[in-house]
Amino acid sequence: MLNVKNVNLGKVRSSIRELFEYGKKRKAEIGEENVYDFSLGNPSVPAPPEVKSALEEIIANTDPVALHGYTSAQGDFSVRKAIADYINSRFSTTLSADCLYMTCGAAASLTITLNAILNVGEEVVVLAPFFPEYRVFVENAGGKLVVAECLKDTFRIDFKQIERALSPKTKAVIINSPNNPSGVVYGEEEIERLAKMLEKYSSEHGTEIYIISDEPYRELVFDKSIKVPYIMNYYKRSIVCYSYSKSLSLPGERIGYIAVNNSMGEWEEVYAGICGAGRALGYVCAPNLFQRLVAKVYDKTSDIDVYKSNRDILMSALEEYGYSVVRPDGAFYMFVKALEEDAVRFAERAKRYELLLVAGDDFGASGYVRISYCVSPEMIRRSLPAFKSLAESYK
Ligand SMILES: Cc1ncc(COP(=O)(O)O)c(C=O)c1O
Repeated sequence: MLNVKNVNLGKVRSSIRELFEYGKKRKAEIGEENVYDFSLGNPSVPAPPEVKSALEEIIANTDPVALHGYTSAQGDFSVRKAIADYINSRFSTTLSADCLYMTCGAAASLTITLNAILNVGEEVVVLAPFFPEYRVFVENAGGKLVVAECLKDTFRIDFKQIERALSPKTKAVIINSPNNPSGVVYGEEEIERLAKMLEKYSSEHGTEIYIISDEPYRELVFDKSIKVPYIMNYYKRSIVCYSYSKSLSLPGERIGYIAVNNSMGEWEEVYAGICGAGRALGYVCAPNLFQRLVAKVYDKTSDIDVYKSNRDILMSALEEYGYSVVRPDGAFYMFVKALEEDAVRFAERAKRYELLLVAGDDFGASGYVRISYCVSPEMIRRSLPAFKSLAESYK
């Protein structure tokens, strides 16, 4: 008998992937330009030019045996040191290379971290709306996902909901800012308040609660005056799961890292747990070439002006057509209120207008749809009449 849970997981595609596959079929039937596919969060702008030049330089000047060989399980020391130094200079932390573990992107970072800290039955609080794979990752690590809804209509943190969600079994809270799917960026006050609340709760109950900050979108903020607080500056028991998938437009290369805050007393134990979980899961020695690459371009970001302009065009058009939209300050997603109560039905109806929108239900927020606007500006413009007709169909 096979592992039924995983067999079933493999058979059921996520609703995002399902819609993406539908889109591929539909494009073959009626032409790519006639389908408005807002399903996936696949960056639509190229990697910054420094990526290509650094790759060429690395390939030209590195011994091929070393270039394609294994690195240390946790990642090459000089790569980890370069990234730790960069984090320290940017956020005034004091991380060493031994606080970092190189991974295959944020998904691996999260899975490893959860396996490192969770015992069977312990709880992980997520803030809805949330990235649907959190449930898969938490449950696979033996944990239980507990949902704390954000405030309706703003999707900012609802502290009453967090208070309700906490229990003596709470082991971690996952935060994700800029957020997929809402695009909301949590401000300093919110992060401070969350940190204080968790400190108070854990000291009253004699427990340890970690904040896991899932950060694939850290660099994707459109207004320079909006800061994304660095969790290690606010909360000791914190772990950052970072990825270059979106910031450098390299999602297929699978590269990121875990950074453990060394201001918590037990940080070396946590790091050992991460090394152990990485080993147990087979996530050792992240891709060598791309480890070397990110050590050279860690401070670069793809040109995100296109995402900003897509956001602006789409937001003002949607509001004009009568949709209500939560203003996204970052990432490349927009969470829009469905025009009927059932967002799944709304997303089905949108398909009649060749609009592929993901219903918010899997993100833990019914009544909304997610639009991934990491698409070409031409597609945004072409899609506007379809959004208008969809809205008119409800009048
Ligand atoms: C919130 C969030 N976390 C994690 C991931 C996984 O990122 P990666 O491609 O780096 O594994 C994604 C990918 O879309 C995401 O949106």
